[in-house]
Amino acid sequence: MAETTKTPVTILGLGAMGQALAATFLKAGLPTTVWNRTPGKDAELLAAGAVGAATVAEAIDADGPIIAVLLDHASVHATLDPVADRLAGRQLINLTSTAPNEARELAAWAARHDLHYLDGGIMAVPPMIGQPGASILYSGSRPVFDAHRDILELVAAAEYFGDDAGFASTYDFALLAAMYAMFGGFLHGAAMMRSVGVSAAEYGARAAAWVSAMTQSLPHQGAVIDSGVYTDPVQSIAFHKSALDAITRASRDANVTLDFVAPLKTLLDRQVADGHGALGFECTFEELR
Ligand SMILES: NC(=O)c1ccc[n+]([C@@H]2O[C@H](COP(=O)([O-])OP(=O)(O)OC[C@H]3O[C@@H](n4cnc5c(N)ncnc54)[C@H](OP(=O)(O)O)[C@@H]3O)[C@@H](O)[C@H]2O)c1
Repeated sequence: MAETTKTPVTILGLGAMGQALAATFLKAGLPTTVWNRTPGKDAELLAAGAVGAATVAEAIDADGPIIAVLLDHASVHATLDPVADRLAGRQLINLTSTAPNEARELAAWAARHDLHYLDGGIMAVPPMIGQPGASILYSGSRPVFDAHRDILELVAAAEYFGDDAGFASTYDFALLAAMYAMFGGFLHGAAMMRSVGVSAAEYGARAAAWVSAMTQSLPHQGAVIDSGVYTDPVQSIAFHKSALDAITRASRDANVTLDFVAPLKTLLDRQVADGHGALGFECTFEELR
């Protein structure tokens, strides 16, 4: 193992994600100190060689970067505010999901305490950590990213996006927005198929193939949006409004509520009412900003 991968790390937060990260670092041979607010979540990690810290102060006494994997922005402050005066000169890699301005606030807070701050948005679920397909998007301190890129790559592909600490979070939640819209559509479709006796598992298998095929068009749709030219559409807003109207009728026939479908239908109805029906579907983007 290369010497660089022996960097010691401290993990604050042993929820599902913190445990997965700590286990991966331990497997790679990194000296790993762990702390969790509620005791007792470190048993497997201690058995694998981790050093358990009874307090946050004890945890941050260990050398190396401090990696926070807590619930939210408030929990990062709740954990680190009491030890802020001991953090000068240290490096904090915050993998806790925070909104962009919360990440920027934490970066400013860190700067006031002479703490070097790197923010990360985890694009993975715990079982993916350390496996191909996991990625973490980073922004904030470039020196912290460069100094620890080798160990960060142990848990997930690591990509750096500049010194705006809120950038990685914006990207993270923009990707999650697309994911949740897809999941919502899946639930809606599963409810429709239940009305004709098809299991959600069977529908899920077919939906996975269909949605995967449809996502291939996203880079092209993005290019159309970036061009700002919507006058030569493959499929117009009016076409998509007609489809949403049909989905609405089909959903009513299946006794399925319109919670997931209605917002998009409302948007398209308004676009057509405003005279944009002949433009490309991507033009709807302009109304969202
Ligand atoms: N799980 C995922 O799939 C996933 C994916 C991407 C990103 N993330 C992000 O990773 C972070 C951790 O996720 P997780 O899955 O590990 O969540 P989790 O299993 O719910 O664990 C939450 C952790 O935060 C701690 N915590 C909560 N409030 C606290 C407070 N006020 N002070 C100190 N510690 C506090 C909990 O400690 P206690 O044990 O004491 O409650 C626990 O260690 C979240 O920001 C999440 O959005 C998770």
